[in-house]
Amino acid sequence: MNATSSASLADATGTDESAVEHGRSVKSVYVYEAPVRLWHWLNALAIVVLCITGYLIGSPLPSVGGEASSHFIMGYIRFAHFASAYVFAVGLLGRIYWAFAGNHHARELFTVPVFTGAYWRELGLMLRWYLFLAPRPSRYVGHNPLARFVMFFVFFLTALVMVFTGFALYGEGLQAGSWADRLFGWVVPLLGQPQDVHTVHHLGMWVIGCFVIFHVYAAVREDIMGRQSIISTMVSGYRTFKD
Ligand code: HEM
Ligand code: HEM
Repeated sequence: MNATSSASLADATGTDESAVEHGRSVKSVYVYEAPVRLWHWLNALAIVVLCITGYLIGSPLPSVGGEASSHFIMGYIRFAHFASAYVFAVGLLGRIYWAFAGNHHARELFTVPVFTGAYWRELGLMLRWYLFLAPRPSRYVGHNPLARFVMFFVFFLTALVMVFTGFALYGEGLQAGSWADRLFGWVVPLLGQPQDVHTVHHLGMWVIGCFVIFHVYAAVREDIMGRQSIISTMVSGYRTFKD
């Protein structure tokens, strides 16, 4: 394959053989820049706090005896939820900004080449590898095609739903006319009534929870069985190849 066709395939599928070859001789390729890595781990932390506190908002702990003002447990749970919600929402905005400012791997999360045949072929290959039906996966400098699909359609779109429904509910607490109500209040009539917003927000937690379980499993499995570094790449930014 010549350099031009391999570069266009790289754009279409994330498979970049020439960079892989280059990576082999220089041992590593710089893939994830510092803002992407920082966002990844901060976002992961915020989501863990959001899921635990969100679950406790939906299924509160049994009542505690005594004056409410002397313990304030539900208040602390909601405070932790809202504080990490700001980290999550501002982080997501920053990550979208970095898709424009960063290198081309920073755009992979948002640009899935769904109209390219080669992309779907690579995705099928990766799916067969995950299902133990293929003996060997391909090598990818950025995200693999299946990861790209799941990260955009399952993680990113659900994250947007969580921000819009979350701030719509938050606007109810801040009262009519507040900034959150003016920016996100329209979500409530769009979904029906406030309970519907709670239900969608609640279901979104389980979608994100399933994503995290599958994502961490895939990251650990690829790190052990795949042909390139995975978890250390999200720490150092560098991809190294095993063969
Ligand atoms: C991954 C992100 C998030 C997860 C997993 C999550 C999870 C949850 C869950 C499960 C509930 C309980 C819903 C119910 O059963 O009624 C909840 C409530 C709520 N969440 Fe989130 N949430 C997230 C993001 C956000 C964001 C970005 C905001 C924006 C401020 C937000 C604001 C709220 C509010 C205001 C409530 C209602 C609190 C109450 O009724 O006391 N959430 N969240
Ligand atoms: C709440 C938890 C987590 C969420 C929501 C999450 C989400 C994501 C997202 C959206 C990306 C794409 C990054 C980008 O292109 O900007 C990503 C990449 C990645 N995540 Fe996570 N992550 C979580 C936890 C973890 C954990 C615990 C690990 C380690 C075991 C991990 C390992 C990775 C790796 C290695 C990549 C890069 C994969 C590749 O090189 O193709 N993540 N994650």
